[in-house]
Amino acid sequence: MSRLVLEEVHKTYGRGRNAVEAVRGVSLTVEPGTTLGLIGESGSGKSTLGRICLGAEPIDRGRLLAGGEDFARFGRERLAEFRRKTSIVLQEPELALNPRRTLGQSVTEPLEVHFPRLAPAERRERAEHAMELAHLDPGLWDRYPRELSGGQQQRAGIARAVVTEPEFVVLDEPTASLDLSVRGRILDTMRELQDRLGLSYLLITHDMATVSALAERVVVLYKGVAVETGEWRRVRRDPEHEYTRTLLSAVLTVRRHGRG
Ligand SMILES: Nc1ncnc2c1ncn2[C@@H]1O[C@H](COP(=O)(O)OP(=O)(O)OP(=O)(O)O)[C@@H](O)[C@H]1O
Ligand SMILES: [Mg+2]
Repeated sequence: MSRLVLEEVHKTYGRGRNAVEAVRGVSLTVEPGTTLGLIGESGSGKSTLGRICLGAEPIDRGRLLAGGEDFARFGRERLAEFRRKTSIVLQEPELALNPRRTLGQSVTEPLEVHFPRLAPAERRERAEHAMELAHLDPGLWDRYPRELSGGQQQRAGIARAVVTEPEFVVLDEPTASLDLSVRGRILDTMRELQDRLGLSYLLITHDMATVSALAERVVVLYKGVAVETGEWRRVRRDPEHEYTRTLLSAVLTVRRHGRG
């Protein structure tokens, strides 16, 4: 995908005494075919930034640029193209899947939205291909979400996210609801998809192992401010900002004392 850039973005929810400054002057760049990790404590503005990168959350100040073009100036066609080329994988696959639609219907839905003129057979073929890419058996086509395992549901969310052949995908805590054994395999699938489809990812996560598995670079977010940006290997080894140090050592402490 063309490079995706945020320039000095600000976003406040609410007004007056209830105002929450969720994002305060954040700049970031996601290079084509690469993964940018977005880390920070709960409430630091990660999901808000994810939605902003998709043009799904209006901003107060700053710019979203795709391929050097200002999102705010997109005409109807360019906007439709941008929507086709971007998507999101959510933490809770249940939220991404309609409980009343079969797996096949859920995976096909984005094609109905973005490619309404495709013939039904062609749609089915593309949806089955996306399922195969996500390592999900197309034989599950007629199953409902409650008839799938957590891992299968997450793969369905991934198949849905890639069925339109996007170039940029936001992964918002993509493995947080999965147990460790499934997590590793889902990460492998996401990396494989990145290679095969040339995807760029914005990876939102609390899990440093997930960052290590996917991200080349990271942005560390603290109360809506990007306090540190850089190559993940460097940040992990030699964090510059006090908050990054706290964040990394908190994770290590939890590991040591808690879940092993
Ligand atoms: N639609 C909204 N209306 C009002 N406030 C919101 C809205 N969405 C988010 N916020 C607030 O903005 C701040 C950032 O929220 P955000 O969801 O981006 O955090 P996050 O880093 O994704 O947190 P988590 O790790 O818990 O998912 C929080 O204070 C949150 O309460
Ligand atoms: Mg979030």
